[in-house]
Amino acid sequence: MDQDTKKPITYGTRNLADEDLTQAVLATFENSSSERFQKVMQSLVRHLHAFVKDVELTEEEWFKGIDYLTRIGHITDDQRQEFVLLSDILGISMLVIDINNKQSPEATASTVFGPFFVEGSPRFANGDDIANGASGEPCFMHGHVLSIAGEPLPDARIEIWQADDNGFYDVQSQESSQVYGRGHLYADEAGNYSFWSVRPEAYPIPEDGPVGELLEAANRSPMRPAHVHFMIKVPGYKTLITHVFKEGDQYLDSDAVFGVRSSLITSFDRHEPGIAPDGKKMDVPFYTMHYDFFLMPIKE
Ligand SMILES: [Fe+2]
Repeated sequence: MDQDTKKPITYGTRNLADEDLTQAVLATFENSSSERFQKVMQSLVRHLHAFVKDVELTEEEWFKGIDYLTRIGHITDDQRQEFVLLSDILGISMLVIDINNKQSPEATASTVFGPFFVEGSPRFANGDDIANGASGEPCFMHGHVLSIAGEPLPDARIEIWQADDNGFYDVQSQESSQVYGRGHLYADEAGNYSFWSVRPEAYPIPEDGPVGELLEAANRSPMRPAHVHFMIKVPGYKTLITHVFKEGDQYLDSDAVFGVRSSLITSFDRHEPGIAPDGKKMDVPFYTMHYDFFLMPIKE
């Protein structure tokens, strides 16, 4: 495309202010090659301009905002996703999830992806211990992966990640680079899954970066109720990204990222030393968690 055909001709850019300026910027998207891109960008510009006018943004605040976003970019790498965390604490993540997951009530609810997922987790066999050195009390987690019609979904790929009992994910550890509390496995032919790990505990989201500054300025709690992350993939079904939350946790109604759904809360039951549900002999007290996941078929 040559420069002349690229150039929008429906507006001028000189001496613009207020509403004329907004209209001129909106017009620059009129020739977009994608209708969806045009709609998203024009709406974004309308809302950003309205926001700047609404708060009468000062130049100092504008510089501060640019600096804030820059620092979020600088602290983000392949093991720390501060942009996702910002989206989470502003409720944007849950809004996007709600809009895109208006599904059958029989399906397991989705919740935030969070900033601690890492590609390429170790593979385990169904029934293995994924704790791999994570500190905490042993917990046997098990259940089924089913369709919303109740049919077992064999070979469902189940990705699990969780914090240790100090509230840290492996990627947050300063001392070691060991992968712990993280892995993937496949359900058996009857849709059964099970694994050992540690009982999750409530934890604060990372406060040592720009998101922490924002929480501090707003006098907001960084705490999240105890949970285990799951991502379940089955061909022909909508991928489920969710958590299972620990019943009775004190932060279930004050989650820093607004991610709790009542249907995702379940009990983690304590047992004295003895035989676990998988036949393993336990010399120390242990916990069990049972949860079934229900997936939505993808409509043709
Ligand atoms: Fe988490």
